[in-house]
Amino acid sequence: MTEQSPNRRWPKFRTIFTKISLGIVGFYILVSLILPIILIVHPTSIGHIVFLNFLKPGINFTQPEKFGLDRVFNFYLNVEPTVRVGVWHYRSPLVADQSYTTDQDYFQKYLVSQSSAIPIVIYLHGNAFDRSLFNRRGICEKLRKELKYDVFTFDYRGYGDSTGEPTEEGLITDARYVYDWIHNITNGQRKIYIWGQSLGSAVACQLAARLSDDESKTLAGLVMEAPFINLHQALQTHYLALLFRWQPWYYGLTEKALHKSKLAFQTRGHLSNINCPCVLLHSDDDYTIPYAHSKQLLQAGLSVRDHNKKEKKLFHFTIDMISFHSNGYGHSLIYRSPKLIPALKHIIFDEDL
Ligand SMILES: *[C@@H]1O[C@H](CO)[C@@H](O)[C@H](O)[C@H]1NC(C)=O
Ligand SMILES: *[C@@H]1O[C@H](CO)[C@@H](O)[C@H](O)[C@H]1NC(C)=O
Repeated sequence: MTEQSPNRRWPKFRTIFTKISLGIVGFYILVSLILPIILIVHPTSIGHIVFLNFLKPGINFTQPEKFGLDRVFNFYLNVEPTVRVGVWHYRSPLVADQSYTTDQDYFQKYLVSQSSAIPIVIYLHGNAFDRSLFNRRGICEKLRKELKYDVFTFDYRGYGDSTGEPTEEGLITDARYVYDWIHNITNGQRKIYIWGQSLGSAVACQLAARLSDDESKTLAGLVMEAPFINLHQALQTHYLALLFRWQPWYYGLTEKALHKSKLAFQTRGHLSNINCPCVLLHSDDDYTIPYAHSKQLLQAGLSVRDHNKKEKKLFHFTIDMISFHSNGYGHSLIYRSPKLIPALKHIIFDEDL
């Protein structure tokens, strides 16, 4: 018997390696051919990629305690006859515990009378999955714990257990409805902040811009976490886009497809209509929406502020940015930063209640 030489294994490895490499290259070429055809033949399919709301693990949201959440309440709001959105209310630790019922009286009684000095944050999440995702629970818990505010978050139409199909206008309508509902139920007595992450920041910005038309609905502040200039730009700089954007079809076809699908999310353009303090949060190791987006939004915001001043517009718009450097927070984990809430308290949030 002869011992098997280790060298004899190499040719086998080499063929496996070659096969895998050829497979990857083949797949890449295939996608490069198919993607432009899909965008030409069925441009509105780009909406599925933008919203990713088909990622639904079939969660039951009625018992937030199953997610380790204490004093979080689930209820539903009917935005339109065919659109019902699921909401989670993280109740402020400053409000005495009451037995919870889902009727409107509960909110009238406990949101208004007991807690008129406690501000509210409405958290607007990004694309894919739902209000129960770990980082979304993480930030809502943190806001409630460190600020002692009431926090509301919800799933836009077509996400989680909310009915309907997402569109840009639909997402803004849902956010506006939740805002109006909270504003009504609290008789406009509570300060309301809007916090949006990623795609949610684009919804938040447009909601804030629309609310500035109505003097009775001034926002206390707007936080945009990992925002982007506009959706088309975001599709050019996403790490997956780096594979395709050098190909001549990519820029033009994505632009046309977004246009056909009525998807713009023009955050930069809407800054000029905002009438409240605004803070941008971005991590420099975010490869989904690169850091440069916030730097450009900051520049745009500063010129909007100067322009408002020159035109003597009575806007309370200010813009700041908090950067996170090489902390590994990436696109979704800024909530883990211990300096996040203290820094925001300096800029927009009320000091300790
Ligand atoms: C979710 O769980 C609750 C309580 O166990 C149950 O009553 C309800 O029917 C469930 N909902 C769905 C959609 O499965
Ligand atoms: C809020 O109140 C206004 C005025 O009463 C009403 O028109 C509107 O439908 C209410 N909106 C919500 C979401 O409750």
